[in-house]
Amino acid sequence: MSKRSNTVKKILVTGGCGFIGSNFIRHIIDKDYFVCNLDKLTYAGNLDNLKGIEGRKNYKFIKGDISDAKTVEGIILKFDVDIIVNFAAESHVDRSILGPEIFTKTNVLGTQVLLDVSRNCWSRKGYKGKRFVQISTDEVYGSLGKSGKFKETTSLAPNSPYSASKAAADLLVNAYRQTFGYPAIISRCSNNYGPYQFPEKLIPLMIINAISNRKLPVYGDGLNVRDWLYVEDHCSAIEAMIRKGKLGEVYNIGGNNECQNIKVVKLILKELGKPLSLISYVADRLGHDRRYAMDAGKIMRELGWRPKHRFEKGLKDTVRWYLNNKDWWKKIISGEYQQYYRKIYKGR
Ligand code: NAD
Ligand code: DAU
Repeated sequence: MSKRSNTVKKILVTGGCGFIGSNFIRHIIDKDYFVCNLDKLTYAGNLDNLKGIEGRKNYKFIKGDISDAKTVEGIILKFDVDIIVNFAAESHVDRSILGPEIFTKTNVLGTQVLLDVSRNCWSRKGYKGKRFVQISTDEVYGSLGKSGKFKETTSLAPNSPYSASKAAADLLVNAYRQTFGYPAIISRCSNNYGPYQFPEKLIPLMIINAISNRKLPVYGDGLNVRDWLYVEDHCSAIEAMIRKGKLGEVYNIGGNNECQNIKVVKLILKELGKPLSLISYVADRLGHDRRYAMDAGKIMRELGWRPKHRFEKGLKDTVRWYLNNKDWWKKIISGEYQQYYRKIYKGR
């Protein structure tokens, strides 16, 4: 470790076995980083997402919980961690409606443990070269009407137990910054899509159901709007924040790509050559946010970041990925997923 320490940044990625975390590790693993991945391996954490990475010299996986202070402290001291990127979370809105408690435990208390332990470890020698990136979400801003976009200065107004827990974590991160001068940055990104996304989320769920000739359950009138970003573009934005983001700042990330859910679903059916008759309108999600749209001007101006993937092409590539990786998702949907699916969709 000592040889590496002068040139290579040691980065602790939490939740690196999930969708965005695993894409992020793939994105940085060939660059000048040593990566330690701390993941509890919940239902959403999947070691298959990092196949081919496990044996790398600059990679170490540790199974554990971000809420466990001893584990977190051990990692920070052993690997002399410089940067923490906190992806670890309960991330699905529908699950937060079924059971909010774990969302508070992981997303709020877990973040607080990471902040507290790293502050204690880092403040001994000063914060120089250290930074904590909190991976937050556009959902903390609540829901938009027909016009306007979320800016970094928009007030927090979360509506679901999931988004409330993410907003609470953001407030804690900000409090550590203000109170202790702790070196934190917050990123707030819009809806991601791409390879390795767990099939409870809209795009993979619809792709897999369409491939399997199952009904495509569209909530409410299908006119809710999300601002879609290809996951690789999110990863490059996080890398920009690590390298040149200003401590204490919030950066919105988005693809400037608003789309109604029903349009997304129809594009997927078209790509797969499946009939529109597979679409089934079902009861709406409770408290369903109507529209999200991000103003990502600040990260573009200040850090020079730009999204590279156009939605139509990114969606085609994603459909192709799920067609080419049936073993990956078949393993997932044969397990706990079936019970979850029945709970959410049966009789809806
Ligand atoms: P995901 O559900 O696919 O992955 C979450 C990962 O965190 C899993 O590997 C899981 O095992 C791990 N984890 C959960 N609890 C843990 C704990 N207590 N300790 C350690 N690991 C734990 O989520 P995702 O979609 O990859 O989202 C990652 C982060 O990005 C989340 O913080 C989410 O709020 C945020 N985000 C997601 C999106 C999106 O569109 N998916 C958009 C913006 C922000
Ligand atoms: O905006 C960022 C957020 O995007 C992240 O913070 C969350 O972690 C992530 O889960 C995602 O939240 P959403 O609730 O927007 O994503 P989801 O894929 O669950 O749903 C997208 C839209 O599709 C939403 O309007 C609900 C709708 N939907 C979803 C599912 C799963 C359906 O109509 N049918 C479905 O079966």
